[in-house]
Amino acid sequence: MRRPLNFASGPAMLPGEVLQQAREEMLDWRGSGVSVLEMPFTSPEYQTIAAEAAADLGQLLALPDRHRILFLQGGAYAHFALLAMNLMGGRRRAADYVLTGLWSARAASEGGRYGAIHIAASGEADGFTRIPPQAEWRLDPQAAYCHLVSNETANGVQFHWLPDTGLVPLVADMTSDFLSRPIDVSRFGLIYAGAQKNAGCAGLTVILIRDDLLDRALEQTPAVFNYGLQAGCDGRVNTPPTFAVYVAGLMFAWIRRQGGLEVIARNNRRKSEKLYAAIDESGFYRCPVAGADRSLTNVCFRLPTQALEAEFLAEGRRRGLVHLEGHAAAGGLRASLYNAMPAEGVDALIDFMHEFAIRHHALGKCGAARESATRA
Ligand SMILES: Cc1ncc(COP(=O)(O)O)c(C=O)c1O
Repeated sequence: MRRPLNFASGPAMLPGEVLQQAREEMLDWRGSGVSVLEMPFTSPEYQTIAAEAAADLGQLLALPDRHRILFLQGGAYAHFALLAMNLMGGRRRAADYVLTGLWSARAASEGGRYGAIHIAASGEADGFTRIPPQAEWRLDPQAAYCHLVSNETANGVQFHWLPDTGLVPLVADMTSDFLSRPIDVSRFGLIYAGAQKNAGCAGLTVILIRDDLLDRALEQTPAVFNYGLQAGCDGRVNTPPTFAVYVAGLMFAWIRRQGGLEVIARNNRRKSEKLYAAIDESGFYRCPVAGADRSLTNVCFRLPTQALEAEFLAEGRRRGLVHLEGHAAAGGLRASLYNAMPAEGVDALIDFMHEFAIRHHALGKCGAARESATRA
């Protein structure tokens, strides 16, 4: 079966190999006679699945000794609130947030239910088209933590550097670029990510937390979302999202087979550079994000009119290029190029974009305008 090229922002495309393996093991996992869907989480079979997934993830990230891996339910949106509950009970009930787009704004709003939120920097005045450089940040040295979103899925901006927050733990929502490139985990107090983009399917939130932050939860934190309690009993406070952990484990193993995060990052960079070049050189498509801050995973772009955008989407769909619409809050178009998107998928999109632009005479006109400007 020919599958469409799925540019969805998440849940998103998974590698064919991973889907195939899940299908082959669906009724009988490794000769156990049961499906992963049927396994008690306390069974030796599921414990093997979780342990192998954690070991592969730790290996991929070169996880420092002081960091723990938790496989929890909830999704990143739930953890916007939960991380605040887990970290505000320590030093001071106040935290720094850096606003770079839709998701960091939502994280701040949820965090604000449990403590004082201080906006350390914001890209809002520029329509979230750039990451504020650290020179513009006003950090509180007493903050419980400093929060950022490493990749803004809706706005298409991404951190390509790490800030210095001194002794204040750096906390990052990495939902849309987790495992798309190497991460220096030692620079973070806490990293969290929904798995459904680069690392598996919906239902699992991966948490990487430094040991010294495990005892800072507010009194009212639910037991099942208390990171310290979960770390203390190997995630067995409640039923983990077992099937999602299994799928994430297949993804971690797949990433290792590709050659690890360096190789994955190189492939991802190539894909997005090619697409941005096609946009920039077209004179028809336009990416509003500042060059240095562009997301390698979520490429946002516009056409000259909304009517053309609608036509582009409909025609793309007919050609098997699906889910190219931008986030409802941002509008426009967005091609999400997660780990599973092959280079040929991006080539197919670029070919279509080129044809579409030529058909609407823009390339011709703009190309001619550029040429005469160069001659003048
Ligand atoms: C960066 C980021 N954070 C948080 C979320 C929310 O994730 P969920 O709806 O799985 O809780 C998303 C969803 O796309 C996201 O892209």
